[in-house]
Amino acid sequence: MSKRRVAYYYDADTGSYTYGLGHPMKPHRMRVTHDLVSAYGMLEKMHVLRPKRATPEVMTAFHTDEYIHFLNRVTPETAEELTYHGTRFLMGEDNPAFEGVFEFCSISAGGSISAAQRIASGAADIAINWAGGLHHAKKREASGFCYINDIVLGILELLRTYPRVLYIDIDCHHGDGVEEAFYTTDRVMTCSFHKFGEYFPGTGTQEDRGRGKGRNYTVNIPLKDGITDEAFKRVFEPIINKIMEIYRPGAVILQCGADSLAGDKLGCFNLTMNGHAHCVQYLRAFNVPLILLGGGGYTVKNVARTWTYETACALGIQDDIDPNLPWNEYFEWFGPRYRLEVPENNMDDLNVRDGSLDKVRATALQQLSQLPCAPSVGMHEVPRESLGRHLGLDIAEEDADEDGGTDDLDRRLAQHSRFVYKLQEPGGGSDESDDERYDSDGSSYRRRKRMSILSNRVVNVDPDIGRAQPRGRRFFKSAVRWDETYGRVRLGKEPVLGSLNGSRLGGMMEATGRSTPGGDVTMEDWEDGTSV
Ligand code: FE2
Repeated sequence: MSKRRVAYYYDADTGSYTYGLGHPMKPHRMRVTHDLVSAYGMLEKMHVLRPKRATPEVMTAFHTDEYIHFLNRVTPETAEELTYHGTRFLMGEDNPAFEGVFEFCSISAGGSISAAQRIASGAADIAINWAGGLHHAKKREASGFCYINDIVLGILELLRTYPRVLYIDIDCHHGDGVEEAFYTTDRVMTCSFHKFGEYFPGTGTQEDRGRGKGRNYTVNIPLKDGITDEAFKRVFEPIINKIMEIYRPGAVILQCGADSLAGDKLGCFNLTMNGHAHCVQYLRAFNVPLILLGGGGYTVKNVARTWTYETACALGIQDDIDPNLPWNEYFEWFGPRYRLEVPENNMDDLNVRDGSLDKVRATALQQLSQLPCAPSVGMHEVPRESLGRHLGLDIAEEDADEDGGTDDLDRRLAQHSRFVYKLQEPGGGSDESDDERYDSDGSSYRRRKRMSILSNRVVNVDPDIGRAQPRGRRFFKSAVRWDETYGRVRLGKEPVLGSLNGSRLGGMMEATGRSTPGGDVTMEDWEDGTSV
């Protein structure tokens, strides 16, 4: 296999942050991955770069000033007050205001932006940022363990150079944050393969196809539990092949969320390491500039194995590396087999059993058949100066002087994301299913409905209740922890995940922590709870 110039972004500080004891998202997995990549001797085969950290100003190319200002100053001590008792910016247990949250985000986002810049400059064929891929973060709020959407920021960077950018997401959860951001443009095609049905974030049906100029440029592949390598390949290959053929992207971002692997603590698919990495190999073969990002992945040793193997795939050396793991600092974590593999388990593949896989593939291919070849712009490279016009912001484009061109471009990119969101908000012609309401300045919620990634239950957040009964929102104080014995997330005495009907966390979230006679949970209940 031919060689590729690979740029690998890593900041040694990234593994030092923690979402809190018992939280399933472990930034430490990046350090374990890096250590394994290093032990395999891959660092010498690629450009290893420490990314420039993203500044608050850079983040506002997508996120609101208000949200970034909040994230930049929130601490565990001030979170209750600054989130208006959990009604704004953060999502309860899912997104705690942990120590150093802003720095953590600036590393993740900085890596994806740097990766995009390096790809666009032509200095690399493939760029990797395993600390990125946080696809749930929204314009004005955190969601599903994600605070800053490094992917959207990276794509905006790519759009300076490329007429069309393709985003592919193989995380077990729907890539909702990225889809939302580019729902109304044909400059970005998003394609997400994910579990759908009573599962976070609750979006991503095949009816969701984009809107306006972006109609049919959003592709969703909703799947059921237990999909295997072979079945995944049967949808992934024909759909990606068709997209590459008709959309002809200038660059591709592949979000390699590892919670689609068999045995993931929050996932429900049955992909092996090889099946997951096949997606990387398949895209690499198109020889189009490629960015690999991380994402979900909650069984740390399997995340590290898979992202290490996918780094080898990027380098084209996957057939040369020893399947027996080399000695590394975390060697004992990989017992008892100490091998570079993630085997499948014996769960049923519900996609094949009822024939839904073939229907999903046929529907997606039918959608793609409605698209014109290489839309919107010609096959020639888009001149940097004309970006605003391509984004539909062609006002006074020629007025920008030579020196002010770049700053003007930054401003227009930020304007573009605001423009897209305006369209999607109620009153702006939105077809969003949830019941968001904004103040006239578009900045604050009246009421919103969201799902929790921890409980997979809908959470109703009502600011009035939060303000009236600030002490009532008990779910905001974390008591979720991972139970090694039973292999599931637990809250107090009751299992939280794997037994949705018995989820007291979800119940408390729905009740917004208010007391109900004889039926509520006290702080003592869930802090003193023991495993059953
Ligand atoms: Fe995920």
